[in-house]
Amino acid sequence: MNRSLLVVLAASFTLGACSDDEPSQSNDASTTTDTTTDTTSTETSTSTETSTETETSTETETSTETETSTETETSTETSTTGGSGGSGGAGGAGGTTTTNSSTSDGGSSTETTSATTGGTGGEFVAPTLLSETGLYEDDMTTLAEGVMPFEPAYKLWSDTAAKQRWIKLPEGAQIDTSDMDYWVYPVGTQLFKEFTRDGVRVETRLLQKTGEGDWFMRAFQWNDEQTDAEARPDGVFDASGTEHDIPSENQCINCHDKMPDVALGFSALQLSHDGDGVTLQELIDDDRLSAPPAAPFTIPGSETERAALGYLHANCGNCHQPRSFVANMVDMYLWLPTDELDDVANTPTVLTTLDKRAAQTYFPGAEGTGGETSFDTRIVAGEPQNSIVYLRMTTRETGQAMPPVGSELVDDEGTQAVEQWISELVSP
Ligand code: HEC
Ligand code: HEC
Repeated sequence: MNRSLLVVLAASFTLGACSDDEPSQSNDASTTTDTTTDTTSTETSTSTETSTETETSTETETSTETETSTETETSTETSTTGGSGGSGGAGGAGGTTTTNSSTSDGGSSTETTSATTGGTGGEFVAPTLLSETGLYEDDMTTLAEGVMPFEPAYKLWSDTAAKQRWIKLPEGAQIDTSDMDYWVYPVGTQLFKEFTRDGVRVETRLLQKTGEGDWFMRAFQWNDEQTDAEARPDGVFDASGTEHDIPSENQCINCHDKMPDVALGFSALQLSHDGDGVTLQELIDDDRLSAPPAAPFTIPGSETERAALGYLHANCGNCHQPRSFVANMVDMYLWLPTDELDDVANTPTVLTTLDKRAAQTYFPGAEGTGGETSFDTRIVAGEPQNSIVYLRMTTRETGQAMPPVGSELVDDEGTQAVEQWISELVSP
Protein backbone atom coordinates (compact mmCIF):
# COMPACT_ATOMS: atom_id res chain seq x y z
CA MET A 1 0.00 0.00 0.00
CA ASN A 2 1.43 3.35 -0.83
CA ARG A 3 2.76 5.39 1.94
CA SER A 4 0.80 8.61 1.56
CA LEU A 5 -2.39 6.66 1.63
CA LEU A 6 -1.27 5.06 4.84
CA VAL A 7 -0.54 8.41 6.34
CA VAL A 8 -3.94 9.69 5.38
CA LEU A 9 -5.60 6.63 6.74
CA ALA A 10 -3.63 6.84 9.91
CA ALA A 11 -4.49 10.48 10.40
CA SER A 12 -8.12 9.95 9.75
CA PHE A 13 -8.15 6.97 11.98
CA THR A 14 -6.48 8.64 14.86
CA LEU A 15 -8.34 11.86 14.74
CA GLY A 16 -11.59 10.19 14.08
CA ALA A 17 -11.05 8.10 17.08
CA CYS A 18 -10.73 11.13 19.27
CA SER A 19 -14.25 12.21 18.68
CA ASP A 20 -16.17 12.81 21.80
CA ASP A 21 -19.28 14.15 20.27
CA GLU A 22 -21.70 13.41 17.50
CA PRO A 23 -23.05 9.99 17.94
CA SER A 24 -23.97 9.28 14.40
CA GLN A 25 -23.61 5.72 13.49
CA SER A 26 -24.76 3.29 10.99
CA ASN A 27 -28.08 1.80 11.51
CA ASP A 28 -27.52 -0.69 8.90
CA ALA A 29 -26.35 -3.89 10.37
CA SER A 30 -26.22 -5.68 7.10
CA THR A 31 -23.37 -3.86 5.50
CA THR A 32 -19.73 -4.22 6.16
CA THR A 33 -17.19 -1.73 7.40
CA ASP A 34 -17.56 1.09 9.76
CA THR A 35 -19.71 4.06 9.98
CA THR A 36 -20.03 7.75 10.00
CA THR A 37 -18.44 10.72 8.41
CA ASP A 38 -19.28 13.58 10.67
CA THR A 39 -16.59 16.12 11.10
CA THR A 40 -17.73 18.37 13.82
CA SER A 41 -15.07 19.63 16.11
CA THR A 42 -16.40 20.94 19.29
CA GLU A 43 -14.49 20.16 22.39
CA THR A 44 -17.25 20.15 24.88
CA SER A 45 -19.77 17.55 24.24
CA THR A 46 -22.37 18.06 26.86
CA SER A 47 -24.11 20.73 24.89
CA THR A 48 -24.56 18.73 21.76
CA GLU A 49 -26.87 16.31 23.35
CA THR A 50 -30.17 17.76 22.45
CA SER A 51 -29.35 18.40 18.88
CA THR A 52 -28.50 14.95 17.81
CA GLU A 53 -31.67 13.01 18.00
CA THR A 54 -32.59 13.59 14.44
CA GLU A 55 -29.50 11.89 13.23
CA THR A 56 -30.66 8.37 13.62
CA SER A 57 -31.01 6.37 10.54
CA THR A 58 -29.76 9.00 8.18
CA GLU A 59 -26.25 7.74 8.04
CA THR A 60 -25.06 5.32 5.54
CA GLU A 61 -21.55 4.58 4.65
CA THR A 62 -20.43 7.35 2.41
CA SER A 63 -17.17 7.91 0.78
CA THR A 64 -15.96 11.24 1.99
CA GLU A 65 -13.61 9.81 4.54
CA THR A 66 -10.37 10.14 2.75
CA GLU A 67 -11.01 13.69 1.67
CA THR A 68 -11.72 14.91 5.13
CA SER A 69 -8.83 13.23 6.69
CA THR A 70 -6.02 15.19 5.18
CA GLU A 71 -7.11 18.52 6.57
CA THR A 72 -7.70 17.13 9.96
CA GLU A 73 -4.10 16.32 10.34
CA THR A 74 -3.48 19.74 11.79
CA SER A 75 -6.01 19.41 14.56
CA THR A 76 -4.92 18.91 18.07
CA GLU A 77 -5.24 15.71 19.90
CA THR A 78 -8.29 16.47 21.89
CA SER A 79 -10.18 18.18 19.16
CA THR A 80 -12.58 15.97 17.47
CA THR A 81 -13.71 14.77 14.19
CA GLY A 82 -16.00 12.00 13.52
CA GLY A 83 -15.17 9.76 10.72
CA SER A 84 -13.80 7.21 13.04
CA GLY A 85 -15.29 4.70 10.78
CA GLY A 86 -13.78 6.64 7.97
CA SER A 87 -10.65 4.73 8.03
CA GLY A 88 -12.66 1.59 8.25
CA GLY A 89 -14.39 2.51 5.08
CA ALA A 90 -11.15 3.51 3.52
CA GLY A 91 -9.48 0.35 4.65
CA GLY A 92 -12.31 -1.48 3.07
CA ALA A 93 -11.88 0.45 -0.11
CA GLY A 94 -8.33 -0.71 -0.21
CA GLY A 95 -9.38 -4.24 -0.84
CA THR A 96 -10.77 -6.95 1.31
CA THR A 97 -13.05 -5.60 3.90
CA THR A 98 -13.33 -7.03 7.31
CA THR A 99 -16.74 -8.32 7.90
CA ASN A 100 -18.23 -6.39 10.62
CA SER A 101 -21.49 -7.47 11.96
CA SER A 102 -21.24 -5.21 14.88
CA THR A 103 -22.87 -1.95 14.13
CA SER A 104 -25.25 -1.43 16.89
CA ASP A 105 -28.93 -1.19 16.45
CA GLY A 106 -30.65 2.02 15.60
CA GLY A 107 -29.86 3.54 18.88
CA SER A 108 -28.26 6.86 18.15
CA SER A 109 -31.11 8.58 19.76
CA THR A 110 -31.74 8.90 23.42
CA GLU A 111 -35.45 8.85 22.95
CA THR A 112 -37.10 5.85 24.41
CA THR A 113 -39.59 5.80 21.64
CA SER A 114 -37.13 5.15 18.92
CA ALA A 115 -34.31 2.70 18.67
CA THR A 116 -36.10 -0.50 18.67
CA THR A 117 -34.25 -3.23 16.99
CA GLY A 118 -35.52 -5.20 14.20
CA GLY A 119 -34.82 -8.83 14.14
CA THR A 120 -35.32 -11.32 16.82
CA GLY A 121 -38.25 -11.55 19.04
CA GLY A 122 -39.02 -8.92 21.60
CA GLU A 123 -38.69 -5.25 21.07
CA PHE A 124 -35.59 -3.61 22.32
CA VAL A 125 -36.10 -0.13 23.67
CA ALA A 126 -32.92 1.84 24.18
CA PRO A 127 -32.59 2.68 27.87
CA THR A 128 -32.05 6.33 28.76
CA LEU A 129 -31.30 5.50 32.37
CA LEU A 130 -29.15 2.72 33.69
CA SER A 131 -31.96 1.77 36.05
CA GLU A 132 -33.95 0.69 32.98
CA THR A 133 -31.49 -2.00 32.05
CA GLY A 134 -32.50 -4.49 34.71
CA LEU A 135 -28.92 -4.92 35.79
CA TYR A 136 -29.41 -3.59 39.32
CA GLU A 137 -31.92 -3.86 42.13
CA ASP A 138 -33.81 -0.68 42.97
CA ASP A 139 -31.03 0.61 45.19
CA MET A 140 -28.80 0.77 42.08
CA THR A 141 -25.99 -0.81 44.04
CA THR A 142 -27.02 -4.42 44.43
CA LEU A 143 -26.61 -6.28 41.18
CA ALA A 144 -29.56 -8.13 39.73
CA GLU A 145 -29.73 -11.88 39.87
CA GLY A 146 -27.71 -13.61 37.21
CA VAL A 147 -25.15 -10.82 36.89
CA MET A 148 -21.62 -12.25 37.03
CA PRO A 149 -18.47 -10.20 37.63
CA PHE A 150 -15.50 -10.91 35.38
CA GLU A 151 -11.97 -9.68 34.91
CA PRO A 152 -9.87 -10.05 31.82
CA ALA A 153 -6.46 -11.47 32.66
CA TYR A 154 -4.89 -8.59 30.74
CA LYS A 155 -6.55 -5.24 30.96
CA LEU A 156 -6.91 -2.26 28.76
CA TRP A 157 -5.03 0.76 29.99
CA SER A 158 -7.54 3.58 30.53
CA ASP A 159 -5.28 6.15 32.04
CA THR A 160 -5.78 5.78 35.76
CA ALA A 161 -9.48 4.92 36.01
CA ALA A 162 -10.52 1.96 38.16
CA LYS A 163 -12.85 -0.45 36.39
CA GLN A 164 -15.21 -3.28 37.23
CA ARG A 165 -16.93 -5.52 34.72
CA TRP A 166 -19.96 -7.77 34.65
CA ILE A 167 -21.89 -9.96 32.27
CA LYS A 168 -25.47 -11.12 32.28
CA LEU A 169 -26.17 -13.99 29.96
CA PRO A 170 -29.76 -14.87 29.13
CA GLU A 171 -30.85 -17.71 31.36
CA GLY A 172 -29.76 -21.10 30.15
CA ALA A 173 -28.25 -19.73 26.96
CA GLN A 174 -24.84 -20.81 25.70
CA ILE A 175 -22.09 -18.85 24.06
CA ASP A 176 -21.30 -20.22 20.62
CA THR A 177 -17.63 -21.10 20.98
CA SER A 178 -17.27 -23.15 17.83
CA ASP A 179 -14.58 -20.65 16.87
CA MET A 180 -12.65 -20.38 20.13
CA ASP A 181 -11.11 -17.04 19.21
CA TYR A 182 -14.29 -15.34 18.11
CA TRP A 183 -17.11 -16.15 20.47
CA VAL A 184 -20.66 -15.41 19.43
CA TYR A 185 -22.85 -14.39 22.34
CA PRO A 186 -26.52 -15.23 22.71
CA VAL A 187 -28.99 -12.47 21.84
CA GLY A 188 -29.88 -10.66 25.05
CA THR A 189 -26.35 -10.76 26.47
CA GLN A 190 -25.50 -7.65 28.50
CA LEU A 191 -21.92 -6.74 29.30
CA PHE A 192 -21.21 -3.70 31.40
CA LYS A 193 -18.25 -1.94 32.84
CA GLU A 194 -18.12 0.69 35.56
CA PHE A 195 -15.49 3.41 35.90
CA THR A 196 -14.82 4.98 39.25
CA ARG A 197 -12.55 7.83 40.27
CA ASP A 198 -11.66 8.12 43.94
CA GLY A 199 -14.38 5.66 44.81
CA VAL A 200 -17.12 7.63 43.07
CA ARG A 201 -18.92 6.06 40.12
CA VAL A 202 -18.42 8.23 37.04
CA GLU A 203 -19.75 6.16 34.18
CA THR A 204 -21.03 2.73 33.28
CA ARG A 205 -20.74 1.37 29.75
CA LEU A 206 -23.19 -1.08 28.33
CA LEU A 207 -22.92 -3.49 25.43
CA GLN A 208 -26.17 -5.29 24.81
CA LYS A 209 -26.81 -7.77 22.04
CA THR A 210 -30.18 -6.90 20.63
CA GLY A 211 -30.30 -9.18 17.62
CA GLU A 212 -28.01 -11.33 15.50
CA GLY A 213 -25.10 -9.03 14.76
CA ASP A 214 -26.83 -6.08 16.44
CA TRP A 215 -25.40 -4.45 19.50
CA PHE A 216 -26.47 -1.47 21.52
CA MET A 217 -23.45 0.44 22.86
CA ARG A 218 -23.78 3.33 25.22
CA ALA A 219 -22.22 5.01 28.20
CA PHE A 220 -24.25 6.23 31.19
CA GLN A 221 -23.04 9.00 33.45
CA TRP A 222 -23.78 8.70 37.16
CA ASN A 223 -25.58 11.55 38.89
CA ASP A 224 -24.10 13.32 41.92
CA GLU A 225 -26.35 11.39 44.29
CA GLN A 226 -25.10 8.12 42.73
CA THR A 227 -28.71 6.98 42.46
CA ASP A 228 -28.85 6.51 38.70
CA ALA A 229 -26.92 7.14 35.53
CA GLU A 230 -28.08 8.81 32.35
CA ALA A 231 -27.33 7.85 28.77
CA ARG A 232 -24.61 9.95 27.11
CA PRO A 233 -24.54 8.92 23.47
CA ASP A 234 -22.33 11.90 22.62
CA GLY A 235 -19.80 11.22 25.31
CA VAL A 236 -18.59 13.75 27.86
CA PHE A 237 -15.26 15.47 28.04
CA ASP A 238 -13.81 15.59 31.58
CA ALA A 239 -16.85 13.97 33.11
CA SER A 240 -18.14 15.01 36.51
CA GLY A 241 -15.19 17.23 37.28
CA THR A 242 -12.65 14.47 36.67
CA GLU A 243 -10.19 14.08 33.86
CA HIS A 244 -12.09 11.06 32.73
CA ASP A 245 -13.64 11.30 29.27
CA ILE A 246 -16.77 9.35 28.55
CA PRO A 247 -16.56 8.05 25.00
CA SER A 248 -19.22 8.68 22.41
CA GLU A 249 -20.89 5.88 20.57
CA ASN A 250 -18.63 6.46 17.61
CA GLN A 251 -15.73 5.72 19.84
CA CYS A 252 -17.33 2.60 21.26
CA ILE A 253 -17.83 1.37 17.74
CA ASN A 254 -14.34 2.36 16.74
CA CYS A 255 -12.80 0.02 19.28
CA HIS A 256 -15.44 -2.65 19.65
CA ASP A 257 -16.26 -3.32 16.03
CA LYS A 258 -12.78 -4.70 15.49
CA MET A 259 -14.10 -7.99 16.83
CA PRO A 260 -16.84 -9.74 14.90
CA ASP A 261 -19.12 -10.03 17.92
CA VAL A 262 -18.01 -6.89 19.70
CA ALA A 263 -17.01 -8.00 23.20
CA LEU A 264 -13.27 -7.68 23.75
CA GLY A 265 -12.38 -8.79 27.25
CA PHE A 266 -14.79 -11.69 27.73
CA SER A 267 -12.89 -14.26 25.72
CA ALA A 268 -11.33 -17.69 26.13
CA LEU A 269 -7.83 -16.38 26.61
CA GLN A 270 -8.80 -13.44 28.81
CA LEU A 271 -10.84 -15.64 31.15
CA SER A 272 -8.11 -18.25 31.47
CA HIS A 273 -7.04 -17.33 34.98
CA ASP A 274 -7.67 -18.28 38.60
CA GLY A 275 -8.39 -14.78 39.81
CA ASP A 276 -11.60 -12.97 40.67
CA GLY A 277 -14.81 -13.20 38.72
CA VAL A 278 -16.13 -15.82 36.37
CA THR A 279 -13.38 -17.86 34.72
CA LEU A 280 -13.19 -20.01 31.64
CA GLN A 281 -13.16 -23.11 33.82
CA GLU A 282 -16.40 -22.04 35.50
CA LEU A 283 -18.04 -21.42 32.14
CA ILE A 284 -16.97 -24.90 31.08
CA ASP A 285 -18.26 -26.43 34.31
CA ASP A 286 -21.57 -24.58 34.07
CA ASP A 287 -22.11 -25.77 30.50
CA ARG A 288 -22.15 -22.22 29.17
CA LEU A 289 -19.98 -22.91 26.11
CA SER A 290 -21.30 -24.68 23.03
CA ALA A 291 -17.90 -26.23 22.29
CA PRO A 292 -15.95 -26.20 25.54
CA PRO A 293 -12.17 -26.47 25.34
CA ALA A 294 -10.45 -29.27 27.24
CA ALA A 295 -8.75 -26.82 29.57
CA PRO A 296 -8.05 -23.11 30.00
CA PHE A 297 -5.31 -21.57 27.87
CA THR A 298 -1.85 -20.39 28.86
CA ILE A 299 0.30 -17.77 27.23
CA PRO A 300 3.72 -19.35 26.70
CA GLY A 301 7.05 -18.16 27.98
CA SER A 302 8.75 -16.65 30.99
CA GLU A 303 7.05 -14.13 33.20
CA THR A 304 8.54 -11.28 31.16
CA GLU A 305 7.35 -12.81 27.91
CA ARG A 306 3.86 -13.50 29.19
CA ALA A 307 3.50 -10.00 30.59
CA ALA A 308 4.47 -8.42 27.27
CA LEU A 309 2.50 -10.77 25.02
CA GLY A 310 -0.57 -10.49 27.24
CA TYR A 311 -0.31 -6.73 27.37
CA LEU A 312 -0.01 -6.44 23.60
CA HIS A 313 -2.89 -8.87 23.12
CA ALA A 314 -5.23 -6.86 25.34
CA ASN A 315 -4.19 -3.35 24.37
CA CYS A 316 -3.22 -3.70 20.73
CA GLY A 317 -4.57 -7.05 19.58
CA ASN A 318 -8.13 -5.97 18.96
CA CYS A 319 -6.96 -3.81 16.09
CA HIS A 320 -3.86 -5.75 15.18
CA GLN A 321 -5.54 -9.06 14.42
CA PRO A 322 -6.53 -10.64 11.12
CA ARG A 323 -10.23 -9.75 11.25
CA SER A 324 -9.81 -6.07 11.96
CA PHE A 325 -9.63 -3.67 9.02
CA VAL A 326 -6.30 -2.54 10.42
CA ALA A 327 -4.91 -5.80 9.05
CA ASN A 328 -5.43 -4.33 5.58
CA MET A 329 -3.04 -1.54 6.44
CA VAL A 330 -0.34 -3.39 8.36
CA ASP A 331 0.28 -7.12 8.28
CA MET A 332 1.30 -7.16 11.90
CA TYR A 333 -0.57 -9.19 14.50
CA LEU A 334 -0.27 -8.51 18.20
CA TRP A 335 -3.09 -10.84 19.04
CA LEU A 336 -2.80 -14.37 20.40
CA PRO A 337 -5.00 -17.03 18.80
CA THR A 338 -5.75 -19.85 21.22
CA ASP A 339 -4.30 -22.48 18.88
CA GLU A 340 -0.95 -20.71 18.49
CA LEU A 341 0.22 -20.71 22.07
CA ASP A 342 2.72 -23.55 22.00
CA ASP A 343 5.87 -21.48 21.83
CA VAL A 344 6.70 -17.77 22.09
CA ALA A 345 8.73 -17.87 18.88
CA ASN A 346 5.69 -19.16 16.97
CA THR A 347 3.22 -16.58 18.17
CA PRO A 348 1.98 -14.20 15.50
CA THR A 349 3.26 -11.43 17.76
CA VAL A 350 6.85 -12.55 17.32
CA LEU A 351 6.49 -13.84 13.77
CA THR A 352 5.15 -10.53 12.46
CA THR A 353 7.39 -8.14 14.38
CA LEU A 354 10.83 -9.53 15.14
CA ASP A 355 13.31 -8.27 12.51
CA LYS A 356 10.32 -7.34 10.35
CA ARG A 357 10.35 -4.22 8.27
CA ALA A 358 7.56 -1.79 9.11
CA ALA A 359 4.90 -0.82 6.58
CA GLN A 360 5.89 2.77 7.19
CA THR A 361 9.19 4.30 8.13
CA TYR A 362 8.67 5.91 11.49
CA PHE A 363 9.80 9.48 12.12
CA PRO A 364 9.29 10.37 15.77
CA GLY A 365 8.64 13.90 16.88
CA ALA A 366 5.91 16.43 16.35
CA GLU A 367 3.90 15.69 13.23
CA GLY A 368 6.45 13.17 12.19
CA THR A 369 8.97 15.77 11.13
CA GLY A 370 11.05 16.21 14.22
CA GLY A 371 14.52 14.92 13.71
CA GLU A 372 16.74 13.12 11.26
CA THR A 373 16.36 9.79 12.97
CA SER A 374 13.94 7.36 11.47
CA PHE A 375 13.14 3.73 12.16
CA ASP A 376 12.30 0.89 9.84
CA THR A 377 11.94 -2.21 11.97
CA ARG A 378 9.01 -3.23 14.11
CA ILE A 379 11.14 -5.02 16.70
CA VAL A 380 14.91 -5.20 16.82
CA ALA A 381 15.98 -7.93 19.24
CA GLY A 382 17.63 -6.47 22.32
CA GLU A 383 17.01 -2.90 21.18
CA PRO A 384 13.73 -1.41 22.35
CA GLN A 385 15.02 2.05 21.52
CA ASN A 386 15.18 1.02 17.85
CA SER A 387 11.90 -0.89 17.81
CA ILE A 388 8.87 0.90 16.40
CA VAL A 389 6.48 -1.24 18.46
CA TYR A 390 8.03 0.15 21.62
CA LEU A 391 8.63 3.67 20.34
CA ARG A 392 5.04 4.22 19.31
CA MET A 393 3.88 3.22 22.78
CA THR A 394 6.03 5.92 24.34
CA THR A 395 4.42 8.83 22.53
CA ARG A 396 0.95 10.36 22.66
CA GLU A 397 1.56 12.38 19.49
CA THR A 398 -1.44 12.28 17.16
CA GLY A 399 -0.79 10.04 14.19
CA GLN A 400 2.00 8.23 16.03
CA ALA A 401 0.64 7.13 19.37
CA MET A 402 -0.24 3.48 19.79
CA PRO A 403 -2.91 2.77 20.72
CA PRO A 404 -4.26 5.73 18.78
CA VAL A 405 -7.38 6.01 20.94
CA GLY A 406 -8.62 5.57 24.48
CA SER A 407 -5.87 7.15 26.51
CA GLU A 408 -4.12 10.44 26.92
CA LEU A 409 -1.31 9.19 29.09
CA VAL A 410 1.48 6.79 28.28
CA ASP A 411 1.05 3.56 30.23
CA ASP A 412 4.41 3.39 31.98
CA GLU A 413 3.90 -0.07 33.37
CA GLY A 414 2.79 -1.58 30.08
CA THR A 415 5.51 0.22 28.18
CA GLN A 416 8.10 -1.11 30.59
CA ALA A 417 6.82 -4.66 30.22
CA VAL A 418 7.32 -4.43 26.47
CA GLU A 419 10.67 -2.69 26.81
CA GLN A 420 11.90 -5.39 29.17
CA TRP A 421 10.75 -8.13 26.83
CA ILE A 422 12.39 -6.62 23.74
CA SER A 423 15.64 -6.02 25.60
CA GLU A 424 15.79 -9.74 26.44
CA LEU A 425 14.88 -10.92 22.95
CA VAL A 426 17.49 -12.55 20.78
CA SER A 427 17.29 -12.85 17.03
CA PRO A 428 16.48 -16.37 15.87
C1 HEC B 1 -10.08 2.74 23.20
C2 HEC B 1 -10.88 1.63 22.80
C3 HEC B 1 -12.23 1.48 23.47
C4 HEC B 1 -13.25 2.38 23.50
C5 HEC B 1 -13.31 3.79 22.93
C6 HEC B 1 -14.34 1.72 24.18
N1 HEC B 1 -13.96 0.47 24.57
FE1 HEC B 1 -15.05 -0.83 25.66
N2 HEC B 1 -13.42 -2.04 25.86
C7 HEC B 1 -12.23 -1.90 25.18
C8 HEC B 1 -11.35 -3.03 25.50
C9 HEC B 1 -9.95 -3.26 24.91
C10 HEC B 1 -12.05 -3.84 26.41
C11 HEC B 1 -11.57 -5.15 27.04
C12 HEC B 1 -10.47 -4.96 28.06
C13 HEC B 1 -10.90 -4.33 29.33
O1 HEC B 1 -12.10 -4.32 29.68
O2 HEC B 1 -10.01 -3.82 30.05
C14 HEC B 1 -13.36 -3.19 26.60
C15 HEC B 1 -14.36 -3.68 27.41
C16 HEC B 1 -15.64 -3.19 27.46
C17 HEC B 1 -16.73 -3.80 28.19
C18 HEC B 1 -16.64 -5.08 28.97
C19 HEC B 1 -17.00 -6.22 28.04
C20 HEC B 1 -15.91 -6.56 27.05
O3 HEC B 1 -16.08 -6.29 25.85
O4 HEC B 1 -14.87 -7.06 27.47
C21 HEC B 1 -17.84 -3.03 27.95
C22 HEC B 1 -19.23 -3.29 28.48
C23 HEC B 1 -17.45 -1.94 27.10
N3 HEC B 1 -16.10 -2.06 26.83
C24 HEC B 1 -18.33 -0.99 26.62
C25 HEC B 1 -17.93 0.12 25.89
C26 HEC B 1 -18.83 1.18 25.48
C27 HEC B 1 -20.35 1.19 25.68
C28 HEC B 1 -18.07 2.13 24.89
C29 HEC B 1 -18.50 3.48 24.36
C30 HEC B 1 -19.30 4.29 25.29
C31 HEC B 1 -16.68 1.64 24.89
N4 HEC B 1 -16.66 0.42 25.51
C32 HEC B 1 -15.60 2.31 24.37
C33 HEC B 1 -11.92 -0.87 24.34
C34 HEC B 1 -12.68 0.28 24.16
C1 HEC C 1 -7.72 1.24 17.63
C2 HEC C 1 -6.89 0.45 16.75
C3 HEC C 1 -5.43 0.29 17.13
C4 HEC C 1 -4.94 -0.10 18.33
C5 HEC C 1 -5.69 -0.41 19.60
C6 HEC C 1 -3.52 -0.17 18.16
N1 HEC C 1 -3.17 0.16 16.89
FE1 HEC C 1 -1.29 0.11 16.11
N2 HEC C 1 -2.01 0.73 14.31
C7 HEC C 1 -3.32 1.01 14.04
C8 HEC C 1 -3.42 1.51 12.68
C9 HEC C 1 -4.70 1.94 12.00
C10 HEC C 1 -2.12 1.49 12.13
C11 HEC C 1 -1.67 1.89 10.71
C12 HEC C 1 -1.46 3.35 10.59
C13 HEC C 1 -0.26 3.83 11.36
O1 HEC C 1 0.85 3.30 11.18
O2 HEC C 1 -0.44 4.74 12.18
C14 HEC C 1 -1.26 1.00 13.19
C15 HEC C 1 0.11 0.84 13.05
C16 HEC C 1 0.96 0.37 14.04
C17 HEC C 1 2.38 0.18 13.89
C18 HEC C 1 3.18 0.43 12.63
C19 HEC C 1 3.41 -0.87 11.93
C20 HEC C 1 4.12 -0.72 10.61
O3 HEC C 1 4.47 -1.77 10.06
O4 HEC C 1 4.28 0.42 10.12
C21 HEC C 1 2.86 -0.27 15.07
C22 HEC C 1 4.28 -0.63 15.41
C23 HEC C 1 1.74 -0.36 15.98
N3 HEC C 1 0.59 0.03 15.31
C24 HEC C 1 1.82 -0.78 17.27
C25 HEC C 1 0.74 -0.83 18.15
C26 HEC C 1 0.86 -1.17 19.55
C27 HEC C 1 2.15 -1.56 20.22
C28 HEC C 1 -0.38 -1.06 20.07
C29 HEC C 1 -0.79 -1.26 21.51
C30 HEC C 1 0.02 -0.63 22.53
C31 HEC C 1 -1.29 -0.68 19.01
N4 HEC C 1 -0.57 -0.54 17.86
C32 HEC C 1 -2.66 -0.51 19.17
C33 HEC C 1 -4.40 0.85 14.89
C34 HEC C 1 -4.32 0.45 16.22
